[in-house]
Amino acid sequence: MKHKFICLGIAIGIIWLALVMSVTATSITVKTDKPGAKINPAMWGIFFEDINFGADGGLYAELVKNRAFEFPDPMMGWSKLSPSKARGTLTIRDKNPFNAKNPHYLRIESEGKDLLGVANEGFRGIGVVASEAYNFSAQIRSVSGNAKVRVELYSSNGALLDTVRLENFSSDWQNYSTVLHPKTTDAKAKLYVLVDGAGTLDFDMISLFPAKTWKNQPGGLRADMVQKLADLKPGFMRFPGGCIVEGIYLTNRYQWKKTIGPVAERETMLNRWNVEFLHRPTPDYFQSFGLGFYEFFQLCEDIGAQPLPILSCGLACQFNSGEACALTNLDTYIQDALDLIEFANGPATSTWGAKRVALGHPEPFNLKMIGVGNENWDAPYLERYAKFHAVLKAQHPEIQLVSSAGPFPDDAHFKYAWQKLRELHADIVDEHCYAKPDWFFNNTHRYDGYDRNGPKVFFGEYAAQSDKVVSVENRNNLECAIAEAAYMTGLERNGEVVRMASYAPLFAHIDAWQWTPNLIWVNNLQSYGTPNYYVQKLFANNPGDTLLPLTLDAAGAEKLFASATRDTAAGEVIIKVVNGGDLPVTATLDISGAGKIDSAANVSTLTSGSLKDENSFTAPQKVFPQESKLDVGSPKFDHAFPANSLTVLRLKITQ
Ligand code: AHR
Repeated sequence: MKHKFICLGIAIGIIWLALVMSVTATSITVKTDKPGAKINPAMWGIFFEDINFGADGGLYAELVKNRAFEFPDPMMGWSKLSPSKARGTLTIRDKNPFNAKNPHYLRIESEGKDLLGVANEGFRGIGVVASEAYNFSAQIRSVSGNAKVRVELYSSNGALLDTVRLENFSSDWQNYSTVLHPKTTDAKAKLYVLVDGAGTLDFDMISLFPAKTWKNQPGGLRADMVQKLADLKPGFMRFPGGCIVEGIYLTNRYQWKKTIGPVAERETMLNRWNVEFLHRPTPDYFQSFGLGFYEFFQLCEDIGAQPLPILSCGLACQFNSGEACALTNLDTYIQDALDLIEFANGPATSTWGAKRVALGHPEPFNLKMIGVGNENWDAPYLERYAKFHAVLKAQHPEIQLVSSAGPFPDDAHFKYAWQKLRELHADIVDEHCYAKPDWFFNNTHRYDGYDRNGPKVFFGEYAAQSDKVVSVENRNNLECAIAEAAYMTGLERNGEVVRMASYAPLFAHIDAWQWTPNLIWVNNLQSYGTPNYYVQKLFANNPGDTLLPLTLDAAGAEKLFASATRDTAAGEVIIKVVNGGDLPVTATLDISGAGKIDSAANVSTLTSGSLKDENSFTAPQKVFPQESKLDVGSPKFDHAFPANSLTVLRLKITQ
């Protein structure tokens, strides 16, 4: 009996609290007739890095791993197929290679008693869809005999999915191609390449691509993954990272010039995430650079994002060796930046502009920004940045430079960087933060006091961590997404100083990740957006171009956050409201200065039943924005904001 009373008491208490909370005199006033600063309509962008199989094994749609036999173990990803009757040898050679930059190739010498060859396991399997076309190609050279080749796809349980034949090989390297159509769908199929008959054949650049890539580009990008990016309508894309820019040592820094032109000439290189985390070793992670700088620029154009390439500043990752190029030898690094500007924007008559034109893009890529260094810090960075700054500003005042404030948002490296960058009159400073959700809730006013006349801010890497940085337990759950949304209202309110922001990292393969959380998860056939993705999408799809002053009176609803902008072309007011509390909050919205409001406002609401809710391959839209119409009779109306939610209201107004 006593127990029943306690329960009743608790229930009444909860109902009372809910009532009190929902009737609290909360108000949000937006002054549409007092527009504030112009903000960057391209503020919400994306951060791409080849981490978690983001490029090789992910966005770059190549299905064959180690296609050029260039991994340190040249047979990694390959296994020998040799039925008991088969006689012959498989060797890796580098004499008279197809390409000197990737010199290794496979020789198969078969006595012809049975099929002899290799199987490729793909990137944690090869994802194929029933009846779709898969383009196989390989460089093949006949050394002796008259053997044929069988190219076959097998399912994960050993069923033959398709088989095709190639024959009549030249004694010089030549490209041979064919198309396979698997009978069934399989996320973990295998590719077989078998020599049929007596003879010796050499193989290199063994490749398999889905015919259906993004825009059906041969050798292109995975369509579902690019679509996810396009749907975000990102204002910009930062590439190619991340720490991958810097290299463990300077020799394995990212060098853009080595990533353009024929793919066979792009030297395979260790991916730094192969060895970075002892708790997540990924020994088969290398960079083919099939997704290189030309493809990055093209991708930006395709999805309407401004390109933001980040280049090495002559300083290897300071979490690794911190190897520094002597200040007196920085010229090659600076020249790389100058040449990149010419590659992107220069005329056909310029050396690097001509290369872009030859690759198929006569028009400039309209590059407006370059990042110098990623997450570098202290004097070794600032001294190098200063050299870049002097040359680039003198030769290309039209290009905005992004500089680094180091890995953390408020430590000594950060303060030192800001002091020096202010002195240098830097354009845009890149701040990073990976922290618990509370940090994001508690720092929504971080930029309120930033100097409006100093360098601008790029909040270039951030993500709420449900556990802690680098923990494998971090989850892409609603709680983290809502914390990020709350913080983003603070970024937007300060849009005159915060010019850009991007969540990081972008992609992760479910079987091959090193880092979590991530914005989009993929397997070999599917991809899904996390709750965090839908937060980014709601902001990036509804940016606005002008700040509108907003007053939030939220006594009793401390976890309510809001920002407002105007989309001038659409004649709309956009209000973003985050209720990070566990109870719904009803607020009175006062759109002051609006003469008339179109009664049908568009409302998008992102929430879910539990803070721990996540999306998955089986329930990709468990946490998903709900669209509705709101009947707004007058410029002053009430709206209930659900617990743990992000709401975006779009109101058409006439002044
Ligand atoms: O986003 C993952 C990593 O976090 C990036 O490569 C690096 O810049 C940061 O430390």
